[in-house]
Amino acid sequence: MSGPGQPVDAAVVQRQVRDHLFLNFTDMGNYKDADIPIFVKGEGCELIDVNGRRFIDGLSGLYCANIGHDFGSEVGDAAKAQMEELAYTSTWYVAHPRAAELAERIGDLAPEGLNRVYFTTGGGEANESMWKMVRNWHQANGQPQRTKAIARDTAYHGTSLGALSFTGIEECRTPFEPLPIDVTHVSATNAYRHPKGDDPVAFTQALLEEMEQAIIDAGPDEVALIIAEPVQNSGGCFTPPEGYWAGLRALADKYGALLTADEVITGFGRTGEWFGSIRYDIAPDFIVFAKGATAGMAPLGGVIVHERVAEPFVTGKAFYNHGTTYSGHPVSAAIGLKVLDIYDREGVVDNVRSNEAYLAKRLNELRSIPLVGDVRGVGYFWALEMVKDRDTKQTFEGEEADWLLRRVLSQRLYDDGLLCRLDDRGDPVVQLSPPLIADEQMLGRIVDIVGEAVQYASDEVQKGMPAS
Ligand SMILES: Cc1ncc(COP(=O)(O)O)c(C=O)c1O
Repeated sequence: MSGPGQPVDAAVVQRQVRDHLFLNFTDMGNYKDADIPIFVKGEGCELIDVNGRRFIDGLSGLYCANIGHDFGSEVGDAAKAQMEELAYTSTWYVAHPRAAELAERIGDLAPEGLNRVYFTTGGGEANESMWKMVRNWHQANGQPQRTKAIARDTAYHGTSLGALSFTGIEECRTPFEPLPIDVTHVSATNAYRHPKGDDPVAFTQALLEEMEQAIIDAGPDEVALIIAEPVQNSGGCFTPPEGYWAGLRALADKYGALLTADEVITGFGRTGEWFGSIRYDIAPDFIVFAKGATAGMAPLGGVIVHERVAEPFVTGKAFYNHGTTYSGHPVSAAIGLKVLDIYDREGVVDNVRSNEAYLAKRLNELRSIPLVGDVRGVGYFWALEMVKDRDTKQTFEGEEADWLLRRVLSQRLYDDGLLCRLDDRGDPVVQLSPPLIADEQMLGRIVDIVGEAVQYASDEVQKGMPAS
């Protein structure tokens, strides 16, 4: 038996992992003979592994540990008090105070008109719940034939089959096709790689023309939804050009579709505002959230619904034909409320705003390293794209990308004690998404480590990559 506070026997845990634990998106064969990293404790922006080594949590876990790792005891007290009072009741024809209050507080933080919250246990489930609301809404408006959606290339919206339909990453989708929702994928806002990316006006126009054509091709009266992230994670922090989201809103209105901002990452401070929709003046029908809502401390996500979309459900003209046992779970909701208190008390969103310019400046200085083709992002959400040749923007592919990311960079970053993401689901990027409590000194440490690792990788590339 083990438990928090008790000594951990690393060998026992390695055996348990090897023999019993099914890991996410992991080549488990890699750990047949090698040890898997095991983390046992968190402090501030750092994680401590089973051998006592410290690592900077440069990705906030999976973009969720927004308040770092120091507030567990306070949040735990709130969870304990809720469990002692009422550990479970549902939000099926009944309700309870914590879910109600959390819905009100999230509605207060969201942009004008987005006031009603449906709770889920995570982001993918939130996207599916949103989709079913979209379908029920169109049905109530006499348009049951609206069954298609438009999403974006390389975007990640979740892995359960409905959410996977929106996801635009081929290797995630292909093994599970045919997928249940008919989704067309269009270009993301990747200015670095788009032929018109240097001219924001022409770029926006090209993207919107492509989106409009996709709607026309799908059948304008069959398209139910446009879904996108304010800043797209997968592919490496693609920020939207000026006018892009206003254009999406206009197209959704023109063709009678609904518009979703998937803010599973960008929600709750990541961009320096409570929501990316505030930062970029987006007027969506739905905001989908998860992760930062509880700062990773409980599985909770949800859909913030605009009042004009909620209206037919509230007046009884429409019926939401959906539900799950843990929607609005009292303990998760109590944790969400306490985490929001901490965001407020600690000035977490202001902290991002104050340090954003410093982080941007320091990261942009890394452009002097030959390997760095692009630096992009916002708030505490940044990517460095690595290229073979800056003039031609030639990318690393296949085994070369694998060597660069998984052999050279990941080893070096790990040795230097930084956890971040190395991703080649689009072109290869190093991604940073530090806890939103990180101060300038912590951000500086992160950039120093990344800079040294990327410089090292650049030197290795100069020496010559292994023949494939
Ligand atoms: C933008 C976005 N949407 C949806 C999801 C899926 O969330 P979950 O893993 O909680 O299902 C993710 C997860 O990273 C995400 O980044």
